[in-house]
Amino acid sequence: MKWWWKCALVGLVFLIRQGSCLSSELAALQKEYGEWRLQRSPEYATTIGVYKHNDQVENYAYSGFVEEYNKCFGLLTRLKEQVNYNQLDAKERIDYDIFNNTLTMIVEGNNWKDYSALNPVNFLEGPQIDPTYFPKITPFDTVGDYENYIRRLELHPGQIDDMIGRFNKSIEKGHTYHRVSVNKVPGQLEKLLTSYNTTTFPYYKPLLDQLSKLQTITDSKKTEFRERAKSAVEKIIRKLSDLKWYLENVYYNHLRTGFGVSSWDNGAAFYRACLQWHLSLDITPEEVHNKGLQEVERISSEMKKVMAKLNHQGSVKEFFDNIRRNPSFYLQTGEEIVQWYKSAIKNEIEPKLSAYFKDLPNLPIDVEPNPIDGVSGQYIAGPPDGSRPGVFQVNVHRPNQSVKINFMALLLHETLPGHHLQISAASTVKNPNFRKYMTGYLFNVPMEAAFYTSYVEGWGLYAEYLGEEMKLYKTDYDLMGRYGFEIFRACRLVVDTGLHYYNWTREKAIEYMLNYTAFSEEMIAIEIDRYITWPGQACAYKIGELKIKELRKKAEDKLGTKFDIREFHATVLKAGYLPLHILEKNVNQWILETKNKAAETATKCASNGANTYTSWIGLSVIALILFMQ
Ligand SMILES: *[C@@H]1O[C@H](CO)[C@@H](O)[C@H](O)[C@H]1NC(C)=O
Ligand SMILES: *[C@@H]1O[C@H](CO)[C@@H](O)[C@H](O)[C@H]1NC(C)=O
Ligand SMILES: *[C@@H]1O[C@H](CO)[C@@H](O)[C@H](O)[C@H]1NC(C)=O
Ligand SMILES: *[C@@H]1O[C@H](CO)[C@@H](O)[C@H](O)[C@H]1NC(C)=O
Ligand SMILES: *[C@@H]1O[C@H](CO)[C@@H](O)[C@H](O)[C@H]1NC(C)=O
Ligand SMILES: *[C@@H]1O[C@H](CO)[C@@H](O)[C@H](O)[C@H]1NC(C)=O
Repeated sequence: MKWWWKCALVGLVFLIRQGSCLSSELAALQKEYGEWRLQRSPEYATTIGVYKHNDQVENYAYSGFVEEYNKCFGLLTRLKEQVNYNQLDAKERIDYDIFNNTLTMIVEGNNWKDYSALNPVNFLEGPQIDPTYFPKITPFDTVGDYENYIRRLELHPGQIDDMIGRFNKSIEKGHTYHRVSVNKVPGQLEKLLTSYNTTTFPYYKPLLDQLSKLQTITDSKKTEFRERAKSAVEKIIRKLSDLKWYLENVYYNHLRTGFGVSSWDNGAAFYRACLQWHLSLDITPEEVHNKGLQEVERISSEMKKVMAKLNHQGSVKEFFDNIRRNPSFYLQTGEEIVQWYKSAIKNEIEPKLSAYFKDLPNLPIDVEPNPIDGVSGQYIAGPPDGSRPGVFQVNVHRPNQSVKINFMALLLHETLPGHHLQISAASTVKNPNFRKYMTGYLFNVPMEAAFYTSYVEGWGLYAEYLGEEMKLYKTDYDLMGRYGFEIFRACRLVVDTGLHYYNWTREKAIEYMLNYTAFSEEMIAIEIDRYITWPGQACAYKIGELKIKELRKKAEDKLGTKFDIREFHATVLKAGYLPLHILEKNVNQWILETKNKAAETATKCASNGANTYTSWIGLSVIALILFMQ
């Protein structure tokens, strides 16, 4: 049976109760927006398997800001005019709310177009970060694939020019970075420029063996492709070198001297807008700061209690230093580490899930060693049909540096009941395409289309907390590992607001983190530079978790014996990624319905074929981009 037929049947019943069942206008507008997003981010479209923009590149020109505004303002106007909220069913109302929020944020974010968005390259983002990525996501099977790829190479120097153009504007407006955000960039560029020549540059790689092996392309065409690619890569290398020169000789003369954005004109209001974007809540910097202070105190006193139980007299740092020096807290090999995680999922976590969750699709999960030596662990989703498992990649490159006491918290966060469970649950609902596009540039905030980190990462951190309730931290040492992770996220609330709102120095922020966490000064300094570069981003994790806990407490209080943890979790997970204020609305609605014991008639028309998202690749990219620790 086709989706519309099913819906028409349900619709008859529904009409009597609530008016129309499925708003085709809403669906059409969401679809139009989703398609426009991919057209605006053609490289990203390639990564999720949408190939029709493969010969285009993203527009970095300042003039593009106006187009973006006009498009989203136009859609918002049509949404208001063409869709009657009162006639939508429950699922559509959530869709409407999220869509309305997404468009409104872009339109309002445009007020800040002359701020951070003018600085498109920093030590974490830009064309110097990973030139191997672009050829990796591109298909190279046909003549057309090569044509498109080379066209993109030819367009890339123009993108770099537009980046420099934005930097020029940033100088003009007085909204440049602090030095720490760009200090490493010339070195990163220099490394590319000295490591490669034209034919060894990563962009040229697909023109070597890979092209030779393709028998469907003639030799003369191959030669032509190689010549064009060589000339394009030469120009790219020259542009990268220009960018380096520009930064060192022009931009560096205009760096801001304050660490935080409070040193920009209207900086406090800009920071509020960034917080709102990242947290998707109406919350002030003062509130974020105070929540951070409270959480740090609370977790700190928990740690002291556990340390006392373990007869440790010294500081938190000394506690973790002792652990690190003790060989019994390590496994010997990468293989043993992977086995430990596999066994913990199967024997410890999975048997306990059904008491907390219902109707899960049970998508498979696997553990593998991380091929590259980067973060301690990351999660990559599998396809929604379960034909390949979701994969938790764990860093086993230095077994003698990963203490076991951190394993459980990391595992809970990335897999079950963390990101794997969250993404599995989201894969069972048919949401509009654009809500799966969790991509964008953090320098661009708050002009960027939102990607709801506070919901995604808030859940990850909540999963670490659930581990306590589920009695998954077997020893007090495991619990210390968990608190070590948690306090780190709590400290971020204090130092992010400290730097950008209370005019803290970098040194003070580093000292604060050193006082409460066990990480090395070197690592903390890199963290702090990240916060200075992306105002508000690091607050998303803890604020998201606090919101989920707050909503749970509220539901428990209001529902008393009627509170069912499995229903609560289903409510939090059912709509997929969304802003926290809409999550709050949904939970409130659920509390009301549960209280009234109202017949649950909503969500019956959830399935909208036109919007069904089938590309699993998109999910795996989301995972890679978002699940940065
Ligand atoms: C859409 O969002 C705006 C801004 O948040 C809000 O004022 C408006 O009420 C929303 N529209 C509907 C129908 O909820
Ligand atoms: C940036 O400004 C410099 C002068 O400061 C100018 O020479 C250059 O052409 C500008 N570059 C772009 C891409 O706008
Ligand atoms: C680039 O470097 C490779 C390897 O070092 C070398 O074989 C090649 O001749 C160089 N090409 C040019 C154009 O210098
Ligand atoms: C870890 O192992 C490496 C290589 O086996 C060794 O060089 C290093 O000293 C060890 N580090 C510690 C802290 O044991
Ligand atoms: C931070 O510095 C800015 C600009 O120098 C100033 O306007 C603001 O009042 C200061 N904020 C605080 C909380 O001291
Ligand atoms: C770090 O701890 C020391 C000693 O308790 C204290 O004096 C200092 O103010 C703390 N630093 C910050 C930034 O809180």
